[in-house]
Amino acid sequence: MGAFNLQTLARPNILALEPYRCARDDYTDGVLLDANENPYGPALHNLHSQEKSSELNRYPDPHQQPVKQLLCNFRNQERIGEALEVPELTPANLFFGVGSDEAIDAIIRCFCTPGKDKLLTCPPTYGMYGVSAQINDVEVVKVNLEVSSDKGAFQLRPDAVNEALSNDPLIKVAYICSPGNPTAALIDKSDIEKVLNHPTWNGIVVVDEAYIDFSPAGSSMAPYVNKYPNLVVMQTLSKSFGMAGVRLGVSFGSPEVTSLFNNMKAPYNISTPASQFAERALSPEGIAIMKEYATLLIEERVRLLKELPRIPGVGKFIGGEDANFILFEVLDKPDGVPSSKIAYEVYSALAELKGVVVRFRGKEFGCEGGIRVSIGTKVENDTFIAKFREAIQEAQRT
Ligand SMILES: Cc1ncc(COP(=O)(O)O)c(C=O)c1O
Repeated sequence: MGAFNLQTLARPNILALEPYRCARDDYTDGVLLDANENPYGPALHNLHSQEKSSELNRYPDPHQQPVKQLLCNFRNQERIGEALEVPELTPANLFFGVGSDEAIDAIIRCFCTPGKDKLLTCPPTYGMYGVSAQINDVEVVKVNLEVSSDKGAFQLRPDAVNEALSNDPLIKVAYICSPGNPTAALIDKSDIEKVLNHPTWNGIVVVDEAYIDFSPAGSSMAPYVNKYPNLVVMQTLSKSFGMAGVRLGVSFGSPEVTSLFNNMKAPYNISTPASQFAERALSPEGIAIMKEYATLLIEERVRLLKELPRIPGVGKFIGGEDANFILFEVLDKPDGVPSSKIAYEVYSALAELKGVVVRFRGKEFGCEGGIRVSIGTKVENDTFIAKFREAIQEAQRT
């Protein structure tokens, strides 16, 4: 935090940006003839009354303050321990994007000049950081996670990260995924704070918490954005809230950083139906459903962790237990060694012959023989276990 200076870090064109403004920012009532909309309504057959009231012929609310307030209320309730000493989150801390994939890209465009600046990732990690970096012509510096340590599997190496940041002032953003994908491991908060407290690096630490609701309560770093101005925390409604189809991702940041993201976004990036669904999901009733489903998934996670090792040829769980998926090794033979070749054969056979799609992760750093499987319903998990048992036997036989 020591060297952080937003005025020298953000790209000058972004700092100077005059965001797009429309008449609707100032006036929302009356005869609306300002935005070239169609007054007759949407071209939809059999429109029912709730759809009519959504006014889909009108551009959506550009700011979604009520939904943002609901999300703040929810995350503020979850503050425990030290986080209680930090000021509460308010809508000024929030940016909404079309999935957190939009936030990943916005952060790069805000801080990294194409063809010059760099970002840092910690493999094995979520692929979109690298894809967005490439789209923006931004080089990626990699500092691998510690595969196994006394703090658990796939933890951050804060000293190595800090050294990379000290050595290269062109790195403007560090992406840390917690709980990690594909590792399912929550990163130790104190290690993230070591990076946040880097004495000389001027940059942003992004903590991607897409899976945070499957971790123990109080694990989120979101409240800390009002303590560390160099911290951005991303979350999404795609996972615990079960709304991947709605495409709503969020970033929490200081009001100053957040206003840069809000200035940059397309004026109406969040659709009216997306806002309406988000408002329902973040109501007390919606949150209760989310928690009920998260509990079911966690119970099923416990069951898979118990049952999978009974299948001959399944090796160790190589990740953590903090997400709605697990990562485990496939061996070349019962009691053999991890094999990405066999894991890939099992993955392909499952998808092509047995109707079960999982994710092959055996090419990722530290994931030899790795398969990542999402936790499904009880019935889906039973199918997975049965088909997986067959596929692994067949692959090890050939
Ligand atoms: C770590 C991580 N971050 C972000 C995302 C993207 O989420 P969204 O659906 O909000 O774009 C994913 C999706 O799988 C993910 O695994």
